[in-house]
Amino acid sequence: MFERSRTTVGLDIGASSVKLVELEHGEGGVRVLHAAEKALEPETIVDGEIMDRALVVEAVRSLFDSRAAARRRVVVGVHGRGVIVKKIVMDRMSVQEAAEAIYWEAEQHVPYDIHDIALDFEILDVDKGPKQMQVLLVAAKRELILNLAEVVREAGLVLEAVDVNGFAAQNALERGAPAPGGEVSALLNIGADITNVNVVRDGVPLYTQDLSLGGHSYLQSIQKAYHLSREEVERALGQTPRRLDTTAQLEAFAADLSASLEKSLNCLRSSGEADQVGRIVLCGGGAQIGGLAAALGRLQGAPVTIGDPLLGLSREGAGAPGDELARSAPRFAVGVGLALRKERAS
Ligand SMILES: Nc1ncnc2c1ncn2[C@@H]1O[C@H](COP(=O)(O)OP(=O)(O)OP(=O)(O)O)[C@@H](O)[C@H]1O
Ligand SMILES: [Mg+2]
Repeated sequence: MFERSRTTVGLDIGASSVKLVELEHGEGGVRVLHAAEKALEPETIVDGEIMDRALVVEAVRSLFDSRAAARRRVVVGVHGRGVIVKKIVMDRMSVQEAAEAIYWEAEQHVPYDIHDIALDFEILDVDKGPKQMQVLLVAAKRELILNLAEVVREAGLVLEAVDVNGFAAQNALERGAPAPGGEVSALLNIGADITNVNVVRDGVPLYTQDLSLGGHSYLQSIQKAYHLSREEVERALGQTPRRLDTTAQLEAFAADLSASLEKSLNCLRSSGEADQVGRIVLCGGGAQIGGLAAALGRLQGAPVTIGDPLLGLSREGAGAPGDELARSAPRFAVGVGLALRKERAS
């Protein structure tokens, strides 16, 4: 009855920055104890893969050194080309049996050598046709996970679990603002290099894919158009009133994103699983690109909102991060979701 509160830490290692979120799970709910980020040099991480481990370790260390809390166990996320999420249908069997059979199934669905990948799965529907069940198969290149594990170890931390960024974003966004029953939502975590697309209904992923597209390509298109450095563009975008007219670049980025999303949705429609998307929810730094939500809404003909991962979380009490976190909340969706992952377990 007098359950002791416990804390969890999500560590989102992204291309533009490493973000840390520490949550306290108490009787009264979940409280944000700490949220911080440390920018990374360009090219430290490219397309979800760590290029310079020492720089990432340094960033993680500095995030942990700067906070008082002692928790060293962290949940990290993976995404990008090295991660494959697929819904498959296989013979109905127990979870224990499936844990073995999943390797044979994966060989047919994953374009990597089975020895080079780590596998996880979840049974979504035990009753999918005669003697069959539907399973969510998650495969990640072993190298991705080993690299992350090494970063965590070198930073003096302990790896508690590895999650998929798109699912972490879903956990964070849907916890505070669940979609109406039966409605299909497209959740987009728009990062610097990668956008995680996760189409869900009633909390269950219908289609999950990572696009090689993000805020970085938008910034680059502005750099090119105006012959500016990245820093100059970032500074100009932060100014009000705007010094640059970026309408053309915004429209082009929204069109790219919309076309990629359309491809994902077409896969879903052709499989007969869903036809109409009721809402699109954005998070990640790319969600903060001025005018993007409206432009995407026009192209998709569906309501587009910017999700708030802090909804339903308390931010009260000593040391709790305040307004600065609230302003950049969409960028912390994955970090929050990673920290929430352990909410139900243990
Ligand atoms: N106000 C803004 N205007 C335009 N772009 C912005 C703004 N704020 C953030 N961004 C974009 O968001 C990106 C960073 O987003 P985020 O922190 O979600 O990425 P990341 O997690 O580090 O990267 P990834 O997930 O791709 O590895 C930056 O590259 C920048 O392009
Ligand atoms: Mg990210």
